[in-house]
Amino acid sequence: MKALVIGKGGREHALVHALLESSFINKVFALPGNQGMGKEVTQLSVEVESASIHKACIENDIELVVIGPEDPLVQGLASQLRQKGLAVFGPGEQGAKLEGSKIYSKKFMEKHKIPTAAFEVVSSVEKTLEKASNFTPPYVLKADGLAAGKGVFICKDKTELEKAATDLFENKILGEAGREALLEQFQPGYELSFFILTTGADYVALPMAQDHKKIFEGETGPNTGGMGTVAPMKISDSLYRTIIEEVVEPTQKGIQAESFDYKGVVFIGIMVTDSGPQVLEYNVRFGDPETQVLLPLLDGDWGEAFYKISQGEKPQLKWKEGFATCVVLAAEKYPESSVKDVVIEGDFSGSKEAYFLHAGTKLTEENHWVTNGGRVLNAVALASTLQESIEKAYKQADRVCWPGRQMRKDIGKKALDSLK
Ligand code: GLY
Repeated sequence: MKALVIGKGGREHALVHALLESSFINKVFALPGNQGMGKEVTQLSVEVESASIHKACIENDIELVVIGPEDPLVQGLASQLRQKGLAVFGPGEQGAKLEGSKIYSKKFMEKHKIPTAAFEVVSSVEKTLEKASNFTPPYVLKADGLAAGKGVFICKDKTELEKAATDLFENKILGEAGREALLEQFQPGYELSFFILTTGADYVALPMAQDHKKIFEGETGPNTGGMGTVAPMKISDSLYRTIIEEVVEPTQKGIQAESFDYKGVVFIGIMVTDSGPQVLEYNVRFGDPETQVLLPLLDGDWGEAFYKISQGEKPQLKWKEGFATCVVLAAEKYPESSVKDVVIEGDFSGSKEAYFLHAGTKLTEENHWVTNGGRVLNAVALASTLQESIEKAYKQADRVCWPGRQMRKDIGKKALDSLK
């Protein structure tokens, strides 16, 4: 079977990498993909829109489409392609609203009794300040729509809250995505990312991964898309059971009760608080860079798993014993911006257990790899212990360098400490 991956970043390179290893899939296409995905992958250049993609699939005999990023999912691409007869891994438009609208998502949690922080819907500075009296600081203001990771404001007091609300509702810094927002109770605790694959009717859980969201060591500096991940994360059996009973099962039941056309992944952002797990948010796509460490842990065939999900059939997944680490190499000035076209020096080769995935690179006419985005490369490594996988990932990362390269040196440190 031939498969198409939609998207172009490190997550999509991880998906392509997994499908290239599949014996179920004999040819991989990417739209648009990136040059780092290699010559085995055919990059398509049609518009990301159902009629054009369907035509390209017919012309190239593609049967399975795996959609990476949230934007096309929220625009309904998965359901449109399914209606045209393609096998698609990704939720339809209604299900994708769980990520596309934070307000819709909260109402889903409320309706299906899924634990989450208390909230109010606000759409003006005045209302935000009035409703703030229902909460204790710090205040959390979340733009309703997709905002590429820039839609959450943690405000230490009312002055900061007023500024955030003014930016959203009056300065319209996020445009339509910030027309309405959630004002939420801040919940102290620690974060876990939980992934399930769902057919709509049934689900299977993946191992847990831990992201490192801040740009600098020790979780300091501004937020990024993610600077590195490790998996599997170990938590106590009792916490795992609580998460399954209080969060995962009600989420799955809610998806079923709403009759969503959901055949894909649900990425549940959880805050573990003193009063138990609380859902922070749903994402309807794989995490980036979580995918880079989750996919290589499968002792099986991702092509077959994605196809089964797309057909409403629950796959039986078996996991390897080892650990995976991903270290993100980012461009100078990331996350505020990124310095592009800087030549990357070094050796891009790897092995089955340690390799690069490309996220924001470009090949020049002179055949040099240059930076072409915020997160540039992912160094991924697998090993039998977490310590070893971390060491191997850093060794891989150090095969390349460029002026201004940013890399956190403490990926996996917290997970290692928790194993002691
Ligand atoms: N790594 C976080 C995300 O993909 O949203």
